[in-house]
Amino acid sequence: MFETVRRDGLARIGKFETRAGVLETPALLPVVNPKISTVTPRELYEEFGFGALITNSYIIRNSDGLRERALSEGLHSLLDFPGIIMTDSGTFQSHMYGEVEVSNRDIIEFQRSIGSDIGTVLDIFTEPFWTKGQTEDSIRVTLERTAEAASLKGDMMIAGVVQGSVYPDLREMCASSMRTMDVNVHPIGGVVPLMEQYRYEELVDVIIASKKGLSPDRPVHLFGAGHPMVLALAVLLGCDMFDSASYAKFARDDRMMFIDGTYRTADMHSLDCKCPACKDHTLETLKKLPNDQRTKTIARHNLYEIVKELAIVKRYILEGRLWELVEQRCRAHPALLDALRSLERHTEFLELYEPLSRDGAMFYTGPETRNRPVFRRYEERLRDRYVPVADKAALFGDGGKPYSRHYADDFLRVRSAGYAPIVLSPFGPVPAELDEVYPIAQSLFPDAADLETASYSEDSLISFVTERGFAETAEMDDIAAGEERFDALLERTMAVARYQFGKEAADVLVRGRTEIVTSRNTGKIRNVISDGEHVLSMRADDGLFTLRPEGAARIAAGVPAPHMRVTVSDDAVPFVTEGRNVFCAFVKECDENIRPMEEVLVVDGNDRLVAVGRAMLVRGEMLSFRKGIAVKVRDGVRQS
Ligand code: GUN
Ligand code: ZN
Repeated sequence: MFETVRRDGLARIGKFETRAGVLETPALLPVVNPKISTVTPRELYEEFGFGALITNSYIIRNSDGLRERALSEGLHSLLDFPGIIMTDSGTFQSHMYGEVEVSNRDIIEFQRSIGSDIGTVLDIFTEPFWTKGQTEDSIRVTLERTAEAASLKGDMMIAGVVQGSVYPDLREMCASSMRTMDVNVHPIGGVVPLMEQYRYEELVDVIIASKKGLSPDRPVHLFGAGHPMVLALAVLLGCDMFDSASYAKFARDDRMMFIDGTYRTADMHSLDCKCPACKDHTLETLKKLPNDQRTKTIARHNLYEIVKELAIVKRYILEGRLWELVEQRCRAHPALLDALRSLERHTEFLELYEPLSRDGAMFYTGPETRNRPVFRRYEERLRDRYVPVADKAALFGDGGKPYSRHYADDFLRVRSAGYAPIVLSPFGPVPAELDEVYPIAQSLFPDAADLETASYSEDSLISFVTERGFAETAEMDDIAAGEERFDALLERTMAVARYQFGKEAADVLVRGRTEIVTSRNTGKIRNVISDGEHVLSMRADDGLFTLRPEGAARIAAGVPAPHMRVTVSDDAVPFVTEGRNVFCAFVKECDENIRPMEEVLVVDGNDRLVAVGRAMLVRGEMLSFRKGIAVKVRDGVRQS
């Protein structure tokens, strides 16, 4: 069973429960060749902390000595590995070296009988150069074999491989056809040639298409991806598991893996690595080691690079900064940069998983930053949920942040003249009322914008001004103070409420006599009291509202379902009304427009409000996961 513990977009830190222990993901499984162990499984476990490895059942089966031992004493004893053992089926061998003389049934039963924890289907490897017809035919066979494997699994887990060459529609079809099969992990297969040929852009398309089809509650393994250089990108796209044979293969060729590429020791000028394998070596002493010692030292170095990068990836997920890491990592190779740029094609999908806000500030790393789904989110909500405060626009340059402090007097002046203050920012136009909302105030851009970002913001300002039908636009310096009366706090409250909850909900939240309580120190909005009811509180760090129970009750009464609703089963109601979190197993339905970190109404089967909280997951995830928190409940609401 798989559970998401933390997430940042599609990236997740998960717990994958197997009979041999719990694997924390993202995880890399080193490939162990049962015939040559460069680094022993015991060392992988104890020295490097790998909780799982992958080995090849086909090689074991074809070697008399290994087969007998594996059958009699079991795989864990054969390899001397106490962790989780996944086995591959021989697909790759058959593909590389000719026909495998084993049936799917035989290899599944063999994997089971040697005690593999996760066995793999004998899938058919789809090459990138295959025609669509050829690919379709072989997917049909892979799917039949996957169904067969699921029926033979016993208490072994099954890895059902997504194939489909470079055809996104076939990848998605293959992936979604496996949703109903009793499979536990989904490797994405047939991608080794793409990685070997630096075709990362197509790799991105293949991963995204597979993710669209797969059920979110199963971990996704990227078959053959073990270079530290690609890990951050693959995790960003929702891959949870990886395997690497390269650490050992490269070592046998005197090639060292680093975060920015692979280098032959013969081409290196110095060794500046201080990992436990390298720390006592210079390049010269390393090169002079006897063959097997040198290979082992380099293999250990390669493993340490992988371990280090995985730890960094996890940290960035926890900090909500994985996009920044990926943008840095993709600068290691021009083909990776192309892949990063190609993410622009996928923002619609990526936006579905994009959290409403993050803990820290958003950092610009380059022109590609603009492709992050957070830009699309802002653009869409501005278009669909923003209501201008005036029919004339006053344009401001991107000054210091927050804009409402930097331009405090100027905003008041132009507003009093009947203009809506609009700042031209890297996000496009930012109305004064939204300037404290994540990520506008919580973002850092260089003073000099790159050309792409600059032209993006100008273009979106132009379309905003024209589409919104402003009767007039003027530069802020050209506007003299006027007499118009306005309530800046109320305008801000309405704008943020609409941005966050939609126009209809904002209208029921803020109505009648409204009192807005501000912080004595900062002047920022704290609480919104409408007709005597405390409906909203504003968070200082992301400028967004938390919904108070009285506010939630107004939305429940005034805005039809499913807006902002997460519906729970009756047996969860008593717990949730007490303020306990909502677990996925109890979610019956969920509004598909809910994004991670959004305020939600938890309701029972009759749409009666039972709690208010924050969504951790999106609809598809809440409905498919059997474990983990769907909604962090802040306030239970007792039925009266
Ligand atoms: N190892 C690397 N790629 C693949 C693949 O596509 N299928 C299987 N079973 N193993 C692999
Ligand atoms: Zn090293």
